[in-house]
Amino acid sequence: MPTNGLRSQSWYAGSSGDEERSGYIHRAWMRRGLPDDAFTGRPQIAIANTASDLTPCNSHLDEVAAAVRDGVHEAGGIALNLPVVSLGETLLKPTAMLWRNMAAMSTEEMLRGNPVDGAVLLGGCDKTIPSLLMAAASVDLPSVVVPGGPMLTGTFRGRPLGCGTDVWRLSEEVRSGELSAEDFTASESAMIRSRGHCNTMGTASTMGLLAEALGTVLPGTAGIPAPDSRLLRAARESGRLAVEMVRADRRPSTLLTEGSFRNAIVALAALGGSTNAVVHLLAIAGRLGIPLSLDDFDRIGSGVPLLTDLQPAGRYLMEDLHRAGGLHAVLREVRDLLDPEALTVTGRPLAGYLDDARIWDTEVIRERERPLQPDAGIAVLRGNLAPDGAVIKPAAATPELLSHRGRAMVFDSIEDFRARVDDPDLDVDADTVLVLRGCGPKGYPGMPEVSNLPLPPKLLRQGVRDMVRICDGRMSGTAYGTVVLHVAPEAAAGGPLALIRTGDWIELDVAARTLNVDLPAEELAARKPSTEAAAGYAAPVRGWERLYVDHVRQADTGADLDFLVGRSGSAVSRDSH
Ligand code: FES
Repeated sequence: MPTNGLRSQSWYAGSSGDEERSGYIHRAWMRRGLPDDAFTGRPQIAIANTASDLTPCNSHLDEVAAAVRDGVHEAGGIALNLPVVSLGETLLKPTAMLWRNMAAMSTEEMLRGNPVDGAVLLGGCDKTIPSLLMAAASVDLPSVVVPGGPMLTGTFRGRPLGCGTDVWRLSEEVRSGELSAEDFTASESAMIRSRGHCNTMGTASTMGLLAEALGTVLPGTAGIPAPDSRLLRAARESGRLAVEMVRADRRPSTLLTEGSFRNAIVALAALGGSTNAVVHLLAIAGRLGIPLSLDDFDRIGSGVPLLTDLQPAGRYLMEDLHRAGGLHAVLREVRDLLDPEALTVTGRPLAGYLDDARIWDTEVIRERERPLQPDAGIAVLRGNLAPDGAVIKPAAATPELLSHRGRAMVFDSIEDFRARVDDPDLDVDADTVLVLRGCGPKGYPGMPEVSNLPLPPKLLRQGVRDMVRICDGRMSGTAYGTVVLHVAPEAAAGGPLALIRTGDWIELDVAARTLNVDLPAEELAARKPSTEAAAGYAAPVRGWERLYVDHVRQADTGADLDFLVGRSGSAVSRDSH
């Protein structure tokens, strides 16, 4: 049994009989260079490391882990490398989101099943920080996140390139004939200038910064570019901090509150962050038992000004944000909207770290009195098309389209869309509303980032650059446009999106927070779901996909698995040795 409050002592401190033999085995197999005092009361800190060659945004995290290790040892702990499931956004098929919950579940179980007292969580690419935080919340061990940081700004022919966002822009220019295929290929090698994750305010940047706004990152360190030597200093200090957190018993359940999520939502709005953060924050809150709802994003985010001029909607990139003062400079401008009590991993409130923050470039970070938009939150829409809600990011939309009525052009799957979008006879004009279904958590499965449908080439050639699009899937954080997404319930779960037909009139009114199809309730109720769409929802027969489809919840509650919601804590169920 633990003699000093450390759970790892349950493995190492056997004192008699079977316990003594078990302690011998646990210690002996772990020695391999560790000093004799490694097992007598020194906090055991797992470095949950998502470094992987197949997650290129995180491939530098082994070096970050080495700095964490130094810090852990300096503070008297023992650092233990724990490679965990890593999800690479660009490579994983059919979509990385299909495995976010699996990554979270496996990390949670490995932290619980091993002699670990605390953890340092190394993430970066989109799903990695959410999955690590979900795991830490459920196992409830002292944990600090080290975001891997964004890459430096690449340039092509004198212009900065925002990875992700400019891929959309350049590919649309190819489709419209403005850019040659050769020039498009030439831009490829300029896009990724350095180690690190996408350099726009995409999902990875958003979640790294929101992890700090939540209080789970060493204050002042999220957003440091990956090649910047200050990242290694932050990693080293985070290693020391993890040891201190164990000694102070500072766990996610003692740290994270409704106020922490308020701060994250305010930060999300002021930064103009990714819509994916809605799903991830809901899932993390669900693990903690914090009653966060979709409507909280609208309620808290409403009236929060957009203060950063960052791609995908704006001009600058993450390197510029850091240079201009970073997250703290942004939060200082909206300090009155933050929860002053919400704590950070240091045990001090986040708000207490903002006193010295300054804006060094007011083009990148605007002052409160000069926002890019006065109201930048995520808008939550409801209506007969989305009874449980849908979201839109007004900051990334075309203002004139935020109130719109148009006829639907319906696609039953992303494959159906791809097969027809280039057809010059496709019956669409600039007012058409493109509707894509079959892309929700169950329907795809995995809720892919396809909602920002490319526009039909015939309209691109006419100069159309944005249209209203509606989908039950997600959108890349690096994308932009007037896109209504996360429609819940999704078509595959019986949502009314399955009942829409091409030619129906769709009404979007973001100011009124409504999304409707202009049909009498009786007619909508009498309709049968599209048989073509239903055919695409055949449940996978085995493996993770089967488990996922059987248990995944809808987007409005975070798309977690129903049996993973909540926390189990760090107690092990049985002890066989
Ligand atoms: Fe990894 Fe964008 S692909 S963060």
